[in-house]
Order: sequence, then C-alpha cells, then structure tokens
Amino acid sequence: MRRDGTASSGIQEEERQFEAALRPTSLSDFAGQPQVLENLSIAIEAARRRGEAMDHVLLCGPPGLGKTTLAGIIAHELGAEIDQTAGPVLQKKVDLTGILTTIKPRQVFFIDEIHRLMPDIEEILYSALEDFRLDILIGSGPGARTHSMSLPHFTAVGATTRQGLLSAPLRGRFGLVLRLEPYDEQTLTAIVNRSAGLLSVSITGEGAHEIARRARGTPRIANRLLRRVRDFAQVRAEGHIDERIAKAALDLLQVDHFGLDEVDRKIMLTVIEKYGGGPVGLSTIAASIDEQPDTIEEVYEPYLMQLGFLDRTARGRVATLRAFDYFGITRRARPGDLQNPLF
Ligand SMILES: Nc1ncnc2c1ncn2[C@@H]1O[C@H](COP(=O)(O)OP(=O)(O)O)[C@@H](O)[C@H]1O
Ligand SMILES: [Mg+2]
Repeated sequence: MRRDGTASSGIQEEERQFEAALRPTSLSDFAGQPQVLENLSIAIEAARRRGEAMDHVLLCGPPGLGKTTLAGIIAHELGAEIDQTAGPVLQKKVDLTGILTTIKPRQVFFIDEIHRLMPDIEEILYSALEDFRLDILIGSGPGARTHSMSLPHFTAVGATTRQGLLSAPLRGRFGLVLRLEPYDEQTLTAIVNRSAGLLSVSITGEGAHEIARRARGTPRIANRLLRRVRDFAQVRAEGHIDERIAKAALDLLQVDHFGLDEVDRKIMLTVIEKYGGGPVGLSTIAASIDEQPDTIEEVYEPYLMQLGFLDRTARGRVATLRAFDYFGITRRARPGDLQNPLF
C-alpha cells in the first residue's frame, strides 16, 4: 500500500507507471492552462528570489487535468522535496502530526483529495498552514497538556475535484487558489503528440487530433486512448497511427465522438428529454440522475459547457441547439427563436 492509499493491484499499477512515464516534470513541459501557469511561475520565481517557502496553493478541477502533475512540477521548480498524502488516508491525528514533525524547510507537502479530510484533522492543519505551528496533546486524562511546537516554513499544495466541499477556513489558508479547466482540442493534440514521441509511436497530426477530439477535454483520457489506439495500430497497421486508424480504433472501442461518458449523457438527456431543454435547476438534475449537485457542477459541467452543449443561466441549466442536434432530438420552437434571422 502506498501512502496515497491506492492498492497496487496489477492493472492499476501498470496504469500508474504508464501515467508516470508521461507526466511532465517542468513548467515548460506542461501544456495549456496559461493563467494557472502564469500565476504559478510568478509565485515560484518570487519564492526563489526571496529564498523562502512559496505560499500555499490549492489546485481545483475535474480529475485528470493535471493537479498531481502540477504538485510535482512546483516541487521540481522550487528545487524542493515533496511528501505526499491524501485526505482519505489521514485517518488519525497522529497520521498528520507524524508527517508534519518531519517536514523540512521549504519542502512541498502535497495533500490530494483535501476535501475528504476528517474535521479534527483539518483543524490541526489550520495552525500548521497559518502559523507553522503544531499543537500536540501529550498524555491523557487530567494530566494531559498541550505542547506547541513550531514547524519550518513549508509549502502546502492541496488538490480537490470538489471545491464546494471544502470548508471556508481551510480554503482561506491557501494564498493561491487555481482552477484548472478542460483542455481545448489543439492543446490536447499537442499532448497526444508529445506522449506519442515519448512512447516512440508514429502518428500523423490528424491521427493525434482525432484522439484529442474524443478525450473529453482531459489529458489523462487522451493518453489512455492513445495507448488503446497504439495497440490497434500495432495489430492492424504496422504500428502507424493516421486519422483512419485512429477513427477505426476509437469506433471499435465505442468512444463517443465528443468523448462523452455515461454521466455526461445522462445529464444532457435529462435536460433535453425530461425538461424540454430547460431551464432546469441543478438540484433537480442531480435528483433525477442520483448524483451530488456539486459533483455535476464541478466535475461534469465544465466539459459540457466547454463543448457548447450546456449553458448556465440565472433560471437554470439550458441545453443548446448543438446538444439537441448531437442527440438527434428536435427542439420545440421557443419565443426567443423568432428573433433568429434564419427563421
Ligand atoms: N498539461 C498537461 N500536459 C501534458 N500532460 C498532462 C497535462 N496535464 C495532465 N497530463 C497528463 O495526464 C495525466 C493525469 O494527470 P494528473 O496530474 O494525474 O491529473 P489529476 O491529478 O488532476 O487527476 C498524467 O499522466 C499527465 O501526464
Ligand atoms: Mg491526481
């Protein structure tokens, strides 16, 4: 068992190694997210010039967009060591105090899934992040006393897919809160090309683009699809991936043309079929498909909005004409349509 709690069963371990091999290690290798990168590079450079620990950073965004990768990059760029853990792994106070007491000056301490910390553990983190102070209870019963120890200045990097679940006091302790957005096709194409290069796979620009288009705006999915397409090409096309081979492989895998997964489809079909395209409230959608509202909002909607399938309006979620077209459903005429010069 690793510290982040994932059991290393065969397939998972192989997947992890594959991901690790493709993980960018420096800011210049990391594609896309220009605003996040600019903020980070300023914070890193400032910390380097002052010779101090960098401010704590919170990275938010859907799975597979590069949060863990960025934590590693921050440590690398700061020339600092990294120690990592995850919210669900820290079960007892001593799990966290144990790590904190061994932390070194200017080190990076990465806490994945930080929204899943237990409340009493979160509390220890408050003073550690704010004042670099750790209060430990020594002994028990009436003789117990608190010992306060000071910690070296370090940089906490928190990652979360569900920013909405984070308590305000915890969020407030991060000087830099950065949100990752789904990637556009062009950036994903560059990522697929880079990965193909690292894996010594021969691929055309169109082949890379086809994989990128179906990757749901997510580098992790792009890399996984590349791996599957590589297998297909090995058997059917002497290892070379062009547009035709990529299409054939992805169709065989039944990967949706826009990379939509089952939950994406459920969300869109609920809005379109059950609520006539909306507007419909987030909590109503959530109840219909039995998901948490904040999961829909933070994990699924960013991509559906980037695709131009879903709009957030003051009155609720609305499916666009593009989404109706994609699902092959005709939208009933609306008052607003009359203003369209095409009618
Ligand atoms: N901007 C990027 N450029 C290149 N590869 C990326 C980028 N973001 C993520 N990846 C790749 O996607 C995979 C998943 O990234 P990861 O950092 O583990 O995502 P998260 O922690 O947000 O779930 C990694 O293997 C990494 O190589
Ligand atoms: Mg991660």
